[in-house]
Amino acid sequence: MAPQISPSILSADFARLAEEAKAVEGADWLHVDVMDNHFVPNLTLGVPVVESLARATDTPLDCHLMIEDPDRWAPQYVEAGAGSVTFHVEAATAPVRLAREIRAKGARASMALRPATPIEPYEDLLPELDMLLIMTVEPGFGGQAFLDIMLPKIRRTRELIGKHGLELWLQVDGGVSASTIEQCADAGADVFVAGSAVYGASDPAEAVRALRKQAEE
Ligand code: DX5
Ligand code: ZN
Repeated sequence: MAPQISPSILSADFARLAEEAKAVEGADWLHVDVMDNHFVPNLTLGVPVVESLARATDTPLDCHLMIEDPDRWAPQYVEAGAGSVTFHVEAATAPVRLAREIRAKGARASMALRPATPIEPYEDLLPELDMLLIMTVEPGFGGQAFLDIMLPKIRRTRELIGKHGLELWLQVDGGVSASTIEQCADAGADVFVAGSAVYGASDPAEAVRALRKQAEE
């Protein structure tokens, strides 16, 4: 699949979210980091803001739920208009049931792994998913340094996807920038979340195009 870029609004100005969403039109997705102050030590936004954002932009929303009890809350993000909903496997009680519910409600189902969570125990779940997210920082904050010790996990996951002949997308999130995106692409990632590398740039739309070009090379 051609590489896709998903700018993270965590690094945007939350008082101007609609404009900030428009500033990256042309991106494949808009990455929306939902944090609850329990699963991660930070608090961002919830369902009402996602509903408003879905109305404010034509870019599909890629909701990354860093929250406890996603089994209960994730379906509401599909109803709010998300095109893709990612839950953390460490927080989910019944990941297979939840992935099926997200798909049945009409969104892409995605599962995330924290840096210390291995992929191998979840090999059999891969057919239930449309995307797998490998965190390349500890979730919670934008602007952290890329953990290159995650590259072997990205590689092993890409091999498992190939072994099972799946169409699964492989997303990386955290510290993805002009200096790290090529390593991620080489390791087999094809959906790239970038917060500070996009919203910290003077021209965010141009930063998206430049990242995509680098990932294609
Ligand atoms: C971190 C979030 C990321 C964050 C990435 O917990 O999940 O999506 O916005 O920000 P950067 O690209 O600045 O590392
Ligand atoms: Zn994220």
